[in-house]
Amino acid sequence: MSDETPAEPAIPTVDLAELVHHDRAVRQRAADQILVGFGEYGLVYVANHGVDFALRDRLYDRFVAFTEQPTEVKERLGGDDIWFQRGWTPPNTERAVVAGGQPDFKECYFAAPLPTDPGCQIEYPEIYAANRWPEGDADFERDYTTLGRQLHEAGLSLLQGVAMSLNLFEKTFDRRLEGGPHVLRLLRYLPVTEAQLAEGVLWGEEHTDFNLLTVLPGGRFHDPDGAACDRPDEGSGLYLRTRSGDRLRGAAPEGCVIAQVGQQLEILSGGALLATPHVVTAPRTPGYTRVSGAHFLHLHSHQMVFPVEELRSEQTLRDYSPPVLAGTYSMKTLVDIGLAPPSALDHLGYRHYGRLASARAEEAGDR
Ligand SMILES: [Fe+2]
Repeated sequence: MSDETPAEPAIPTVDLAELVHHDRAVRQRAADQILVGFGEYGLVYVANHGVDFALRDRLYDRFVAFTEQPTEVKERLGGDDIWFQRGWTPPNTERAVVAGGQPDFKECYFAAPLPTDPGCQIEYPEIYAANRWPEGDADFERDYTTLGRQLHEAGLSLLQGVAMSLNLFEKTFDRRLEGGPHVLRLLRYLPVTEAQLAEGVLWGEEHTDFNLLTVLPGGRFHDPDGAACDRPDEGSGLYLRTRSGDRLRGAAPEGCVIAQVGQQLEILSGGALLATPHVVTAPRTPGYTRVSGAHFLHLHSHQMVFPVEELRSEQTLRDYSPPVLAGTYSMKTLVDIGLAPPSALDHLGYRHYGRLASARAEEAGDR
């Protein structure tokens, strides 16, 4: 009998350079790794991603300085009028759908790093709202946009590999994403107190992302004095749930970024790929914070959230019906996670019944 302990299941690392390698066998091997990673774990590590970590760190410094301003200053840059889709989101605003409604203990910033389809601004004014930037800090906007674009490019390259892994046309996803409401979110997980630890507070409750693909550039912890530090204890960080239900730590090898499957990609793939349930646990020691980012690639809001034609079968149609427009899907989800008011759903379907009612009232008055 071997005395070796069983190896941790290996989350694959996908090298983006291999996806465009001149040797077809190399490209196919990289695509096969995507299928294993996204199919079993809903997650892969990505190497050769083109994301500038020094730029990321500078942006995190600026974001931390932003979060340390008084609430009244930060509040001016966000708001429920746009469902917190741009600018600042205060702590305890968002909540996971299947997690007992505990709000997340974090504050965030949202901005779209790429131009979005101007035609959608009337249709989905909150989801396509204009960016809001802190006054007098042009560097914040520049670095934010640059990092977002780098993460977006990495995501697009990976999606070409996803298409290859599912035997789909290479540009299957590109054209569905063009002009969509892609957003880079910066997050600051807040210091927890002894009392919160006793209650089992989480930084981010277990959830699945509702967009197509999420690219995570990595984060860092800060000690109670505000200095950057290593992970304070074994329990803190990103954990995901595999297809078989096992909990696994998501920790990218040095120099890599992480890519995660969102609900839209699970649905388009007919369930071949898995939207990863994941959770961000707080350290067991009070006072630590964490800063990180997540770039969300979304389908364009006119795209159908439904298995792509090549992957439709009686089973996949049964699992993912009815088809829904991506914009409508987003509205519904933003209501579910507490960012949009339930009344947003009144806008779905016909809403001019009042016209008939007033005509009838007028008619009755004439009699
Ligand atoms: Fe997430």
